[in-house]
Amino acid sequence: MTRTIKPLVAGNWKMNGVKADLAIAAEVAKGHDAALRRAVDLAICPPATLLFTLTASLIGSRIATGGQDCSAHDSGAYTGEVSAPMLVDAGASYAIVGHSERRTLHGESNAQVKAKAEAALAAGLTPIVCVGETKDEREAGKALAIVRKQLRGSVPDGATASLVIAYEPVWAIGTGLTPTAADVAEMHEAIRAELGRILGKATAASVRLLYGGSVKPSNAVELMNVANVDGALVGGASLKAEDFLSIARACA
Ligand code: 13P
Repeated sequence: MTRTIKPLVAGNWKMNGVKADLAIAAEVAKGHDAALRRAVDLAICPPATLLFTLTASLIGSRIATGGQDCSAHDSGAYTGEVSAPMLVDAGASYAIVGHSERRTLHGESNAQVKAKAEAALAAGLTPIVCVGETKDEREAGKALAIVRKQLRGSVPDGATASLVIAYEPVWAIGTGLTPTAADVAEMHEAIRAELGRILGKATAASVRLLYGGSVKPSNAVELMNVANVDGALVGGASLKAEDFLSIARACA
């Protein structure tokens, strides 16, 4: 953790969740008591179909919501896309951009991720920019270089200290595998340093750096105690209210 930064634990529901699953968010809200609220910010990023209803259901809970992606364009002939102003209209505060599933399955480049992050910023959203190396890249000793390159290519112009970066090693997502605490520490330090070169040291010092990839209640305390880890981006475990809360408590 970074002493001066309030941690953020964000749940990425991915393509999971229908109306009945609003109950998960309600349970999280119930457990988000005053002590936890003081210690950690929470956000849930549901599928776009649930965003408006879920945000409305969380009014008064101080749990924020976010989109899982956004278009680089505000409106127009882009069938199937959801724009940043639309996410704002639905009540979102955050937009995840550049998740590895988007980069891999939809071929999103650093330049596209950057354009999306800039659209999110312009709409008043906080972008959560995801970076991370593949297994082959780590084994080839290229993890740091790859992530630095992703940062240089996808951090939006005009970013402020409110920016959020999520380091998600591709090989750790949904696999139950996690890097060692030492590897996470090395990467997060390198990310902070690279952000210093991009945004200036003072701004970079306040950016929240989340770790994501198989975060569970059983490993959260160890991962969240690593220097420069300011919270988590949680996939599978965010679909279980008790697990998500337990990860949040690990930050508190
Ligand atoms: P898991 O927590 O399911 O590994 O997913 C991580 C992730 O991709 C969050 O964005």
